[in-house]
Amino acid sequence: MCGIVAYIGKNEAYPIIINGLKRLEYRGYDSAGVAIYNNNELKVFKKQGKVADLEKHVQGEDLQSNIGIGHTRWATHGIPNDENAHPHFSNQQRIAMIHNGIIENYSELKDKLVAKGNKFLGDTDSEVLVHYIESVQDENNCTLSEAVHLALKDVIGAYVIVLMSKDDPNTLIAARKGSPLVLGIGKDEFILASDATPIVEYTKDVIYVQDQEVVHISNGILTLKNIDGEVRHPEVKTLDLEVSAIEKSGYDHFMIKEITEQPEAVSSCLRGRIYADKSDIDFAGNNAYLDILKKADRIIIIACGTSYHAGLVGEYLFEDLVRIPVEVEFASEFRYRNPVVKENDVVIAISQSGETADTLVAIEQAKLSGAKIFSICNAVGASIPRASDYVFYTQSGPEISVASTKAFTGQLTMLSMLAIKASYHQGFMSQERFLGLIHELDNIPSLIKEIMKSEEAIKQIALKYKDYSSFLYLGRGYNYPVALEGALKLKEISYIHAEGYAAAEMKHGPIALIDENLPVVFIATKDKAYEKIVSNIQEVKARKGMVLSIVTQGDELVPKMSDEVIIVPAVDEVLMPLISVIPLQLLSYHVGVGLGLNVDQPRNLAKSVTVE
Ligand code: M6R
Repeated sequence: MCGIVAYIGKNEAYPIIINGLKRLEYRGYDSAGVAIYNNNELKVFKKQGKVADLEKHVQGEDLQSNIGIGHTRWATHGIPNDENAHPHFSNQQRIAMIHNGIIENYSELKDKLVAKGNKFLGDTDSEVLVHYIESVQDENNCTLSEAVHLALKDVIGAYVIVLMSKDDPNTLIAARKGSPLVLGIGKDEFILASDATPIVEYTKDVIYVQDQEVVHISNGILTLKNIDGEVRHPEVKTLDLEVSAIEKSGYDHFMIKEITEQPEAVSSCLRGRIYADKSDIDFAGNNAYLDILKKADRIIIIACGTSYHAGLVGEYLFEDLVRIPVEVEFASEFRYRNPVVKENDVVIAISQSGETADTLVAIEQAKLSGAKIFSICNAVGASIPRASDYVFYTQSGPEISVASTKAFTGQLTMLSMLAIKASYHQGFMSQERFLGLIHELDNIPSLIKEIMKSEEAIKQIALKYKDYSSFLYLGRGYNYPVALEGALKLKEISYIHAEGYAAAEMKHGPIALIDENLPVVFIATKDKAYEKIVSNIQEVKARKGMVLSIVTQGDELVPKMSDEVIIVPAVDEVLMPLISVIPLQLLSYHVGVGLGLNVDQPRNLAKSVTVE
């Protein structure tokens, strides 16, 4: 939710900032802006639209500067327009600031400032904060850094802010609470950003700025303090990220690159966890999870969006294999409904970004009851893993496209490994099945590669059906969450209404929708529910619905009943979601592209939802 980049050092700031904003555009793309110090002036350029619109807007401007801040926005307070774009000026235009987060008490602060005569150009909470910092500086006759420390004590909400001032053009000040901030340390230069992607091509030495820390970089000297002004000495870490991982590398879109990368992403998740001789699964320092689960009364899985769908697969896995009750909940509902969480519960947070605000707050709340917190995350060092007792990284690599694909299969891989090992550990699974499932897990990357060979055929189906206005996705058992995920993928990429449903539930309402204009996607692979889903297909056919089926290789029955068929290889049903979701990702991708839409940056969305 909003991307920020800032630069100070020996090089030209503008190209580094623009490049960084393009890398961060997945976080929001309603508007973009930069501030630089040029010809003794603090200059702000900002524009509604994408970073490319900002680039056009600044054409011909003198942008020379060794300091600058940049922002790409996902609107919360105030519509996406030029005025609400960041950076924002303070009242006297002495300070420029970028902000990611939400200032909850902005209205109270604004009232005070308006009473003092401050004039606001837009409607954002961020503009209020920079006015407030300036007014604190004036009232206390102090440095900007001191004013930031003082002002932030009055602020309720989440923020990453970076400020520069025309009175001190060799200084950048930044602070964070709740939202992420990475500081790259190069040779005679510093880059601040919402994540490491704008930094990695310049330096791999980074500091993950902690909550309530204030960064002060002045004349090449870095100082980090907590909000009370005590100096901190953070550890400098080395980024484990290559530039090629964050570039399209010849693909048309990040989404198809990430779908195609899934064999490698799943392998990477398995790597180091499955023994080379496939005799065991091992989580190194995290193996204590096995005893914790054994003693647990219940698992509560908390997540949002696609990660929530992975959580639903987790419910099937843990109840089926480990015989422990599981509840799966949207983080946003969990945190506000006064849930009963007990000391003997295990909470599993699932999040690609590790920054989703609702999930983060939900686990912080759950922690208060004494429950152990596990998290399954992709982004290393993010807030959710930091707030967890045990972290299981999916190692899927950076996911740039807003639609989650390889992160989802990474989450499923991790959940499968955790449940299979726990099942064996607790004596619910024979050694033969345990070893068989490890072999099948190890083979998943090859099976995904196999499905990718059907991409052209899936594309043709997508082009044939892309103009229908509504789709229904139906699945049962392990494939029910896959139906939900397929529908989510289609709607977010193509803006076509799509609904995912448990196939048998169709009879209790959605069956009324079925006619010759409704494509119904059945995930009808061979599993315990196969016969039942065959009946559901008959019910749709009897009402002239169009049937698009995902079937297991060798199935002869469902293809005869279907208008379109996509074949996937056979696999144990507990691992089927890892396979059956791939054609659905490809289908939504090709529908979106076929409709001429920007599949990597669908309208209204942002990759990482760091506001509630
Ligand atoms: O980073 P997270 O996994 O916590 O994000 C959760 C959702 O915002 C995310 O999965 C979202 O639904 C994706 N756009 C789905 O493709």
